[in-house]
Amino acid sequence: MADRYLSFTGTAPGRFLTRRLGLPQPAALRRWSPERPALDGTLLHLVAGKPDPDLAAGLADVLSRTGLRPADAQTGGVMGTQTGTATGASAGAPAGTPPAAVVLDATGVRDVAGLGDVHAALHPVVRSVAASGRVVVLGAPLDAADHHQAAAQQALEGFTRSLGKEIGRGRTVNLVRLTDASAAESTLRFLLSPKSAYVSGQVIHVDAGTATAPEDWDRPLAGRTALVTGAARGIGEAVAQTLARDGAHVVVLDVPAAEKDARALAERLGGTALTLDITAADAGERIAAALPGGLDVLIHNAGVTRDRRLVNMPADRWSPVMEVNLASVLRTTDALLASGTLRPGGRIVATASIAGLAGNAGQTNYGASKAGVVGLVRSLAPRALAEHGVTVNAVAPGFIETRMTAAIPLFIREAGRRMNSLAQGGLPVDVAETTAWFAHPASGAVNGQVVRVCGQSLLGA
Ligand SMILES: NC(=O)c1ccc[n+]([C@@H]2O[C@H](COP(=O)([O-])OP(=O)(O)OC[C@H]3O[C@@H](n4cnc5c(N)ncnc54)[C@H](O)[C@@H]3O)[C@@H](O)[C@H]2O)c1
Repeated sequence: MADRYLSFTGTAPGRFLTRRLGLPQPAALRRWSPERPALDGTLLHLVAGKPDPDLAAGLADVLSRTGLRPADAQTGGVMGTQTGTATGASAGAPAGTPPAAVVLDATGVRDVAGLGDVHAALHPVVRSVAASGRVVVLGAPLDAADHHQAAAQQALEGFTRSLGKEIGRGRTVNLVRLTDASAAESTLRFLLSPKSAYVSGQVIHVDAGTATAPEDWDRPLAGRTALVTGAARGIGEAVAQTLARDGAHVVVLDVPAAEKDARALAERLGGTALTLDITAADAGERIAAALPGGLDVLIHNAGVTRDRRLVNMPADRWSPVMEVNLASVLRTTDALLASGTLRPGGRIVATASIAGLAGNAGQTNYGASKAGVVGLVRSLAPRALAEHGVTVNAVAPGFIETRMTAAIPLFIREAGRRMNSLAQGGLPVDVAETTAWFAHPASGAVNGQVVRVCGQSLLGA
């Protein structure tokens, strides 16, 4: 299952050979560890157009809390901020340490001239961004009454996704649309950290609203209970570990056949094991009964595949996929909201897949079930927040190194691994970190989002 090609290209002869042959050049990604929790380098804060002064002030405040030192700018103003001028953004590569992160505030871009500022701001610095560094572009919501603003703001998506495809060296590029910087603090901290190593080419909307800052940003889920379905192994196991790291009491749910692994994991994490088949008609009621104290975070991770082309797919390969991946997600969500088990301030994170967004040959059942998850999230999110104070979001993993993908035939597996901007598969922990950001108490303004954890896969990009 190990990615031998990635190890090979990490050596000098490997680098030489693959460059000569024009083969993909994956960079070893820098992920979070307790010893190295922050990116290595500085933060360069650039501005294009004229942002709202309150937003700009709030943003400077939030960025000062990311743990990244401001870059020394050759030109421009305070704290590494290079402020846009009347005619455009200031230019000039930063002096000193290469920036590990560049934040471009383009919320004030309202026309094509403003897009010129985006070019002027990033063109001189993009080369200097450190390996495994981050470019985060900030945009505004599209203005329905101003088609010039809407055109310019939509243009930022094409810009972000194109830069993500060319930037290389393990660097990522994402766009966040926001109107209030403090509501986006958990999102900016996540994107500007090693936790988002495999998230690139994404557009994330953060609503206005009050964010509840945790008492301790290192243990934001302290005092909260999280339930993860399908947690005995694979991505679910990593999600359970990550939520426990963040302070949650984790309930490890899996089928009775996986009881041994579920119990061992729960014990390691100081959590609880709960064995039941999530497709049982009364699964929601049984979960509610097992959690008399209530639940804060519900992670729908359990999933199965039964691949076959539609012409060869009997109903008994169709229905289990629909039952596990979609019907049980709908049923248990309804039951846990209706019973009040999910408390106000709660979080639901469902697991979609890029196969549900782009489609995949041999996966009409799986693709349909995962697209259904996206529909569930988009429809329920505003109502769940208004009626229950609970957010609903989805992660959509791409190629993740697990037993599921280890079972794919070699050549298809190798293509799946390389066909993304980072030229490698993701790890279960990458999905787990994105899930933990959604689950964060300060992510209350992140709702109805479907975020791909796919290294900017070419599938459906
Ligand atoms: N691995 C990938 O590349 C990838 C890509 C996209 C999406 N996903 C999705 O991520 C999720 C986790 O995938 P994984 O690769 O870790 O899978 P996995 O097969 O390794 O683990 C799935 C877990 O779910 C449990 N499970 C299955 N049916 C269940 C049921 N009826 N009740 C309770 N538990 C049940 C299994 O016992 C297992 O422990 C799935 O929803 C999957 O569709 C994975």
